[in-house]
Amino acid sequence: MTLIDHDLGTPAPRGSSRDAQLPDVALTIDGMSVTVPEGTSVMRAAALAGVDVPKLCATEKLDPFGSCRLCLVEIDGRRGTPASCTTPVAAGMSVTTQSPKLERLRRGVMELYISDHPLDCLTCAANGDCELQDMAGSVGLREVRYGYDGENHLTLEKDTSNPYFTFDSSKCIVCSRCVRACEEVQGTFALTIEGRGFGSRVAAGANGNFFDSPCVSCGACVQVCPTATLTENTVIELGQPRRSVETTCAYCGVGCSFTAEMQGEQVVRMTPSKTGGANEGHSCVKGRFAWGYASHPDRQLSPMIRESIDDEWKKVSWEEAIAYAATKLKEIQATYGQNSIGGITSSRCTNEEVFAVQKMIRGAFGNNNVDTCARVCHSPTGFGLKNAFGTSAGTQDFKSVEYADVILLIGANPTDAHPVFASRMKKRLRAGAKLIIVDPRQIDLVRTPHVEAQQFLQLRPGTNVAVINSLAHVIVTEGLVDEAFVSQRCEPVEFAVWREFISRPENSPEQMEAHTGVPAATVRAAARLYATGGNGAIYYGLGVTEHSQGSTMVMGMANLAMATGNLGRDGVGVNPLRGQNNVQGACDMGSFPHELSGYRHVSDDSTREMFQQLWGAPIQDAPGLRIPNMLDAAIDGTFRAIFVQGEDIAQSDPNTVHVQSALRAMDLVIVQDLFINETAKLAHVFLPGTSFLEKDGTFTNAERRINRVRPAMRPQTGKHEWQAVCDLAEAMGFAMRWSSSSEIMDEIARLTPTFAGVSFAHLDRVGSVQWPCNEANPTGTPIMHRERFVRGLGKFTPTPYVPTEERSTRKFPLLLTTGRILSQYNVGAQTRRTKNVAWHPEDVLEIHPSDAEERGVRNGEEVTVASRVGATVLRAKVTERVAPGVVYTTFHHPVSGANVITTENSDWATNCPEYKVTAVQVSPGRSAATVELDHPEHRLGALVRMANQIARQWAADPSADPVASTVTHLQSFWEHEMRVDLARAVDTGSVTVDDLVVEAVRRLTVHA
Ligand code: SF4
Ligand code: SF4
Ligand code: SF4
Ligand code: FES
Repeated sequence: MTLIDHDLGTPAPRGSSRDAQLPDVALTIDGMSVTVPEGTSVMRAAALAGVDVPKLCATEKLDPFGSCRLCLVEIDGRRGTPASCTTPVAAGMSVTTQSPKLERLRRGVMELYISDHPLDCLTCAANGDCELQDMAGSVGLREVRYGYDGENHLTLEKDTSNPYFTFDSSKCIVCSRCVRACEEVQGTFALTIEGRGFGSRVAAGANGNFFDSPCVSCGACVQVCPTATLTENTVIELGQPRRSVETTCAYCGVGCSFTAEMQGEQVVRMTPSKTGGANEGHSCVKGRFAWGYASHPDRQLSPMIRESIDDEWKKVSWEEAIAYAATKLKEIQATYGQNSIGGITSSRCTNEEVFAVQKMIRGAFGNNNVDTCARVCHSPTGFGLKNAFGTSAGTQDFKSVEYADVILLIGANPTDAHPVFASRMKKRLRAGAKLIIVDPRQIDLVRTPHVEAQQFLQLRPGTNVAVINSLAHVIVTEGLVDEAFVSQRCEPVEFAVWREFISRPENSPEQMEAHTGVPAATVRAAARLYATGGNGAIYYGLGVTEHSQGSTMVMGMANLAMATGNLGRDGVGVNPLRGQNNVQGACDMGSFPHELSGYRHVSDDSTREMFQQLWGAPIQDAPGLRIPNMLDAAIDGTFRAIFVQGEDIAQSDPNTVHVQSALRAMDLVIVQDLFINETAKLAHVFLPGTSFLEKDGTFTNAERRINRVRPAMRPQTGKHEWQAVCDLAEAMGFAMRWSSSSEIMDEIARLTPTFAGVSFAHLDRVGSVQWPCNEANPTGTPIMHRERFVRGLGKFTPTPYVPTEERSTRKFPLLLTTGRILSQYNVGAQTRRTKNVAWHPEDVLEIHPSDAEERGVRNGEEVTVASRVGATVLRAKVTERVAPGVVYTTFHHPVSGANVITTENSDWATNCPEYKVTAVQVSPGRSAATVELDHPEHRLGALVRMANQIARQWAADPSADPVASTVTHLQSFWEHEMRVDLARAVDTGSVTVDDLVVEAVRRLTVHA
């Protein structure tokens, strides 16, 4: 129960569709006339009329169960005393909720419960928040006739195995709410009631404790438990919360709403809000429990500066840090030109904070060198969906999945990466929707309790486009196209071109099988199911976008949805599952070098004019540099300074060595963050950032939902992040001042047509809205493209399959693909600083038993994973989740450096890195066998690039001394970037630093 909860006892009845109006039913309750929708329970109808019938096993979060018999009522003309939670209303019904008989029965029930309950209310963690206590008071319990001496459960031991909550079985009333929450809400089925009668008790998994059970720590059971049996450890430690603030989770793109329950500026617990549009009262382990990083000792609260990255940090005042950064930036621009600096915005930050950074770059830096971390995740989504439909965002809200009949899940692992949405999806699947999964790895949803995919297309990494084309080929050649939809809603010429292209035999499942490894019959069955199974909804993730053909694949999915008419209504659509909490918002806010907010190109004169008028500064009409271009230009020496907002590019971007070299090549790196992360280790100015508990602003989630982030406490750094950005802009001579973040949103709304109706006041009134929110859609837009596409007619685009250049070879015979795990988040900066490490202390490498055996790799032992650009060491997990020839890892721990081995390949349209396909070799132990200096594609690719770079500089300036320069670079490589890998090689005696110098000079000579 939360501070502000009023539980109506049972859920609202559901119609066959979102728009379906259930007929009203009129009845009387305790003499009052009540009208409610058909299917409402008597308990809920009474609660809506202001009469709370006593209850214990019922809650509006769960289907009625009818076990406690506390909610009995009398109904005229019916025998007995039915349970109000399981009795639906009927027209003309007359209900009595209070009578001497009912009170007597209820007191009898309560006596039984209380006789087997530890009566330690005054020292109980739930004191003041206990439904058992409340009900005892409500029914007027004054004595327990059975006494307390009989057989009882009071000596049962507590289960403290879960790091976040305690299970005290002695207080359990066996109401089954927890078991039902785990089944109905979370869909994990971790709990059971074991034993019978008096011996019944709640059990977690076969091993008897929560930690070792299949429990995923979502906390749904804790939230519904009416007693102190399941209690958050923070509540046990701190006591009950005293105030609350409605805010939004800062982890993933689901964007769950939470009530932060506080004592002063101390969080006591986070409770998911039942009114949250994205989560409707549910959460995952990260949002509910993993917020401790905000007060972790590693958090930096002071601004810091240093001349060189080899110096110690010096703590300084805000004024000194800002003045230092501004002076340096201006000096660099004076020497190297206006375009020699730029910045990166963060999808972890609020819309307002992101808007401020891109405004500073455009206004104060005077260029468009702004990019965002979406570059490395969902930039192909923006490109592909805009091309097909006219807008760079998903088409549905999350609720839409409740109306899907066939779910086509591609390159996404929602139970780990988007857990609350996964629970919603699983609920729909348990209710009968069909599931098709396209993934190189056997994700949990392929087979999980009460859910099984009808078709699992376990494709080879890098062959998404081949699969989507062969699915479309079947639909077109077997006459399954929705001709009416296509002729009314889509461009006819483009469709004809696409139809001809996709019908070609080369796109058939039979011909594509050689590329994809997916049996043609499976593809044909999946295509027929998607096209004919009713509402077909596509959900996808980074397994689609992070490829050299990421944008092609997004267009391929859009083609498939248009061809089958699966757009513009509930239960259908093309839906990106966004990674970061505000990746949609960061893109919306004008973070790309070619676009102002609302995805309007910088070359558009009228758009630019609008911004120039308001900002009083010219805006360049040509796109600026993307992140990879900035990094390359840094190595080339033309890009000299960067402002990095809340993003650890040195860990999260591909080919780590290259990123680190680029950062080291710059004169000034400014990092605004919570921690000294891998990027900050290479920075000269550190501006401390705020955690989500301190932020005041908005996040936009994967369904375009703009949610308020309200401060639960003051900024611990003394400044909001956007205030520091304004200070820096002003110190550079650009007027940029707001008095509150609400004013920033007002400016966004003024400049961005899709946000025109958004303001903090509006959000406070309605909770959240999905953009477009403007005069035409004042309450927002849950489903897009209903009558027509944003671009008018939908556009088909031929999507020829082009195999990635990253192929398995004799030297690198396995394909590595990457993903996430539930308990950790991205590079782990936050989650590694919480108790979540209990579940995932290190990244591991999944490898198929046959590949493991071939290499002498044993489960749990260290292996070296080497690609043509790098090598790292991981612990092996031998599993059939991956197919032979494929290995898989997560990238949550910097020590494993998974991105050291990913290559610089990227999407042809957006430069989104090809994280999902890297050819590797795996060898047992910390082997240096894969580090061979004389191979043209050896792991020191970065060294080669550096040599090339020096050669180019030497060609431009023959007076420079290339050997000295090489030695300097190598020393710095040795000291900072390549230490781990090279140390490994040197340790085994295969390489020395001198060898490296000789090799680099040899390459240099060859190039020169
Ligand atoms: S643990 Fe709580 S919710 Fe579960 S059966 Fe016991 S009292 Fe009910
Ligand atoms: S925490 Fe979630 S997954 Fe674990 S038992 Fe409770 S409801 Fe089930
Ligand atoms: S699903 Fe995502 S937004 Fe929701 S609680 Fe978990 S991490 Fe937070
Ligand atoms: S609340 Fe209705 S039977 Fe328990």
